[in-house]
Amino acid sequence: MLMRGITSPLCLLLFLHVTGLDSASWNLFSKSSTEPPQEGQVRLVGGTRDSEGRVEVYHEGQWGTICDDGWDLAEAQVVCRQLKFPGAISAVTGGTYREGSGSIWLDDMDCKGTEKSLSSCSFKGWALTDCSHKEDAGVVCQRGTNVTDDKAYKLDHSLGMSDELGELFDRRDNCDFHIVVHSPTGNRDGEGKLEVEERIICTHKMIFSLYENGNINNRSNNRSIEISQACSPYVHSFFRYLYTRQINVTISSAQCLHKLASEFGVKRLMQDTGRLFTVLLPEDPTFHTQVSLYNYALQTRDLLLQENCLQYLAWNCQALINSPAWSDVSVDFLMAFLQRSDLIVPDEGFLLHALESWILEKSKSTSNKSQEVLLSHIRFPMIPAEKLYELQFKSELFKTHENLYRVNILRGFQFNSLPFNILKKHKGSKDEEELDFHPRIYTARPWSITVNTTYNPITGQTSIEKYEQLLQEYNNRNAQNQRSGFRHYMNNPPTAPFSSLTSRTQSMLTPNHISVIFQTKGTNSLRWSANVFMYKQECPSCTSVPTGSLTLQSSLSQDQTKSVRYSNRLLLTCKGQYIFHVQDFKNNMAQLPTKSSLAMTYPCTDGQYGFTFVVRPEYIG
Ligand SMILES: *[C@@H]1O[C@H](CO)[C@@H](O)[C@H](O)[C@H]1NC(C)=O
Ligand SMILES: *[C@@H]1O[C@H](CO)[C@@H](O)[C@H](O)[C@H]1NC(C)=O
Ligand SMILES: *[C@@H]1O[C@H](CO)[C@@H](O)[C@H](O)[C@H]1NC(C)=O
Ligand SMILES: *[C@@H]1O[C@H](CO)[C@@H](O)[C@H](O)[C@H]1NC(C)=O
Ligand SMILES: *[C@@H]1O[C@H](CO)[C@@H](O)[C@H](O)[C@H]1NC(C)=O
Ligand SMILES: *[C@@H]1O[C@H](CO)[C@@H](O)[C@H](O)[C@H]1NC(C)=O
Repeated sequence: MLMRGITSPLCLLLFLHVTGLDSASWNLFSKSSTEPPQEGQVRLVGGTRDSEGRVEVYHEGQWGTICDDGWDLAEAQVVCRQLKFPGAISAVTGGTYREGSGSIWLDDMDCKGTEKSLSSCSFKGWALTDCSHKEDAGVVCQRGTNVTDDKAYKLDHSLGMSDELGELFDRRDNCDFHIVVHSPTGNRDGEGKLEVEERIICTHKMIFSLYENGNINNRSNNRSIEISQACSPYVHSFFRYLYTRQINVTISSAQCLHKLASEFGVKRLMQDTGRLFTVLLPEDPTFHTQVSLYNYALQTRDLLLQENCLQYLAWNCQALINSPAWSDVSVDFLMAFLQRSDLIVPDEGFLLHALESWILEKSKSTSNKSQEVLLSHIRFPMIPAEKLYELQFKSELFKTHENLYRVNILRGFQFNSLPFNILKKHKGSKDEEELDFHPRIYTARPWSITVNTTYNPITGQTSIEKYEQLLQEYNNRNAQNQRSGFRHYMNNPPTAPFSSLTSRTQSMLTPNHISVIFQTKGTNSLRWSANVFMYKQECPSCTSVPTGSLTLQSSLSQDQTKSVRYSNRLLLTCKGQYIFHVQDFKNNMAQLPTKSSLAMTYPCTDGQYGFTFVVRPEYIG
């Protein structure tokens, strides 16, 4: 009952601008959090931020430090890149970040700077050293573009009695249930067993009964959970939340809280912390965050988070493919990804090429069967005919999967040479074959056009400035008209200010359809007019602005109207960097969700939108 009927404070979250992101933030999602460290792994300890600190390396089950003899920028580069930061700012010597303890594993380091890990550099030998911890080496790593303030977002799901229930938790008496929290320290004891810290939290069974899946067995009076060291500081506030239903979440605590919430079936907290992650999605141009967040969503079976990640990646498919994360995506990811119709790519050939590169890189670890399943998700009929023809000469996988390619290339040419009513007769009954004839969102010429709103190349003004200037003139003229009456009005009719802003109108020509039979001589191309309305005055019939309109200026023959329909899309690009919204058209109009309707997931500050109109012909069948 507590879960229902509360307006979500997360609405706020969606529009808080996250100013930037640690490039390290993807690390948050990249590993199961209680996984033991790997031999040769490095970590930074004792800094004020996660991008700096004393360097420790994991060897023979123990974290140990590094002596600063020979420690300079080349070594620091290796450490920072091993930790997935873009690079190093400085190498720090002499125990700047407090002295470590335990072994001094490395000394007289000599890295070239290009090594993949610190332990592949040259050094004296493990634990061969004459140093003390006074000489522990450290680094300061470069972070991403800029840094997220680890701002606290306040979640309040309470229905009253919050304070009283909080007190009940804080008093720690009359508990009938104990949570035993285990967190491995990463070190191993003499017998090679992982050291584990144990903490007991005193709670009440009744509280857990409020949650869908408290996982509380009535007969037992305790439950143990395993939590990483990194999450350990947030455990207390999580259990307190179960009482008060209030909590402050930061980007760094969000994953831990999400994980605990999924373990105890606290749906509401999962949803809200999950949404907090997705606000981060646009911030990482390397795409490591997005991909690892998706993998994390799979692990925790958070369907909403999975869908949010996939959607963002589908919209920004081209950038993902060009990013270093593309070669890291998994087969499972690709299976889910390639079935989507909302992938935004120049054309289907681009997607096939990207998949081929991925397969070539992973050919050893991906079975022929998986390769074929992946390739079968490519919509060959949608590949432009010339590219389709070139495949037999250029594709590096053609020989390996010759049969699959030949069958699909044939299907592609059939699609390009026959009208749909004939194709339809023998249309496969399988869903995949249906999808083969269904376009994704293709942006290559001539199917899309971009209208920029913020900058007018003719006047050099932003359209807002221009609009304000015109509005001023308009008001002046109106004022003058009022002073000088009807005659003056007749001589100087006021023109609406927006009529001068023509740069937000573009026209484009497209064929009737992707299929080549519509592109041969004698068939007319279609003329489209694309408009962006930024101001209410420009578009009295719009219920909100901005609104895009895409109108067909040519007329279609009866035949065409019967066989083809246009399900066009409007793409919103933020600052030319990422696509943050995709809208379909109703009656030629694409009305964008406004801030108050709260439907836009990724805020784009400064209104620096680019509007891309995409024409998408589909066979009706
Ligand atoms: C982020 O960038 C701004 C200016 O671009 C700078 O003033 C600020 O210090 C940066 N923040 C951090 C934490 O580096
Ligand atoms: C625990 O108790 C509740 C009510 O007291 C009951 O509905 C539930 O089935 C019990 N669960 C188990 C695992 O015994
Ligand atoms: C947890 O409960 C089990 C049995 O229900 C009991 O054997 C065990 O000692 C308890 N552990 C703690 C830490 O209370
Ligand atoms: C959240 O932070 C605010 C101040 O920043 C504090 O007043 C409030 O008690 C915190 N709420 C919780 C649930 O910790
Ligand atoms: C896949 O098939 C090709 C050609 O049939 C063969 O050479 C190759 O070894 C196979 N690869 C795997 C991983 O089975
Ligand atoms: C819109 O802006 C982008 C990048 O800023 C530019 O490449 C493109 O040519 C512009 N389009 C128009 C129609 O001015």
